[in-house]
Amino acid sequence: MKIFTTKKDLQQHLLQSGALNKTIGFVPTMGALHQGHLSLIELAQQYSDEIVCSIFVNPSQFNDPADLEKYPRTIAADINLLEQVNCDVLFNPPVSEIYDGNEHWHLNLGELENLLEGKFRPGHYQGVTQVVYKLFNIVKPDTAFFGQKDYQQFLVISKMVELLNMPVKLVMCPIKRDSDGLAMSSRNIHLTQTDRQHALVLSKTLNWVKDNFEKGNISRLKKEAELMISAEPDVELDYFEIANGDTLHPADDTSIKTVALVAAKVGATRLIDNVMLADGR
Ligand code: PAJ
Repeated sequence: MKIFTTKKDLQQHLLQSGALNKTIGFVPTMGALHQGHLSLIELAQQYSDEIVCSIFVNPSQFNDPADLEKYPRTIAADINLLEQVNCDVLFNPPVSEIYDGNEHWHLNLGELENLLEGKFRPGHYQGVTQVVYKLFNIVKPDTAFFGQKDYQQFLVISKMVELLNMPVKLVMCPIKRDSDGLAMSSRNIHLTQTDRQHALVLSKTLNWVKDNFEKGNISRLKKEAELMISAEPDVELDYFEIANGDTLHPADDTSIKTVALVAAKVGATRLIDNVMLADGR
């Protein structure tokens, strides 16, 4: 695997790929890689000739400095994993390569910015779009791959691509889970053994809602789900929503695409998860 830490070196390499007419698949990450990230790379390999993965812990998307500080950084293990799945290129820049320290960024993301995650993490999606915009401009991928795990992030990035007419196709990849149902996440490293047990209430509740989903009963299901999660010790619910899968507005029985989304603190760790209830097809 080729590893680049500067834009210039990466772009020089990508010029050669362009000359060979290779299609570029891009998987942006913040590292602390797990099977969820690797599944994105494996899917990308089915679509593209050359895969670029980036590892960059983006300061501008952390609204809480303590969260940025404790974000796991495991670059040696990450490189090992990427080599195991035959990733072609890793872009791992320092912060100074991406930000010059004096920038303004604001994109009108509409209501998506203030709903659900946006409400609990003010400014988060401005930071996400800022860095993904920069990374797309550096890598110029044909296709970029993101996880359904961060459902709202996918909608926000789709909105940015549409607003700025960026020539990139986006692909949403399924959520990878541990065998007990917990959605894989870099933050799971912070869970104690008891936290992990308590955290299972999130995927269990989502599955229960999926199994019992009938359009007429959305508000009753939502209330039951909130009760199930709130009854679990050491779990503090931020939100549980059954939403229209395109707008993230609370779903009504006419919503075609429907998704259930949850965020909660388990011990000291904030987790998110979601499940499709109706895919609109
Ligand atoms: P990060 O949290 O490292 O996630 C990188 C990608 O992996 C995202 O698209 C995320 O949705 C996906 N992912 C995470 N857990 C997953 C799982 N269990 N199954 C499938 N995919 C999973 O998301 C970010 O980084 C950042 O916000 C980023 C887009 C890189 C911008 O900084």
